[in-house]
Amino acid sequence: PSPHPAIVLPRLIAHRGLSAHAPENTLAAVRAAHRAGCDWVELDVQLLGDGTPVIWHDATLKRCSDSRGKLVDLDLPRARRLDVGAWFGDAFRGERMATLQEMLALIEALDMGLNLELKVNRGRSAAALVECVVPTLLETLPAQRLILSSFDGNALALARDLAPAERLALGVLFEGIPRSWRQRCEALNAFSVHCDWTRLKKAQAQAIADEYRLLCYTANDPTAFAPRWGWGVDSVISDDPERFANHLPN
Ligand code: G3P
Ligand code: MG
Repeated sequence: PSPHPAIVLPRLIAHRGLSAHAPENTLAAVRAAHRAGCDWVELDVQLLGDGTPVIWHDATLKRCSDSRGKLVDLDLPRARRLDVGAWFGDAFRGERMATLQEMLALIEALDMGLNLELKVNRGRSAAALVECVVPTLLETLPAQRLILSSFDGNALALARDLAPAERLALGVLFEGIPRSWRQRCEALNAFSVHCDWTRLKKAQAQAIADEYRLLCYTANDPTAFAPRWGWGVDSVISDDPERFANHLPN
């Protein structure tokens, strides 16, 4: 396998930006994460109907905007008319959906790191998303400040084939860790494994951490999480990383 980028992972990564304190996956949430002292954010990316990559988690609009319907039914001008901040709080009224380009420009300007998650929603093409996102990432962010992750194995395999391993770190997302984790990671030449912290078991964590970086999502209770640091977990992806400030291992 090729060498991976020399990534210095932070202990804490802000999930969807600082999503406990700002509307998730927005420029405002990334600025808030930066102000809170986070060096890295996790964000989700998918395509609008016109092929524009945007920072958005759900397949639908209802939860995080003032509109309804499906993301895939929007083109960029229509997406821009949505208010994606007011649902969270009045202070964020007028926030607009971020394109990937805009978000990468902000991450770069703030000198932050990014774990970008490819969201391949049901019925959507992994290839269209990967072929759009990967070249954009390679042009924009240095390898040392970037991890591309997905639950979708096809999307990761396509990304592996588009970018050399030393240029693009790939993170394999699992809910619970399957028995086949090593095969899956080897086949993708993965850099990291990202899993649901509530489902991680000690022996499995230690085996993974011997070979890969190990990240846990979405942990918001530092006391409940605490024993897992000793299992070799590198980083926690949290909606509210500041809560962990006094609960980190050395
Ligand atoms: O990337 C970790 C985590 O974000 C995966 O789940 O649903 O929050 O995107 P979700
Ligand atoms: Mg995500």
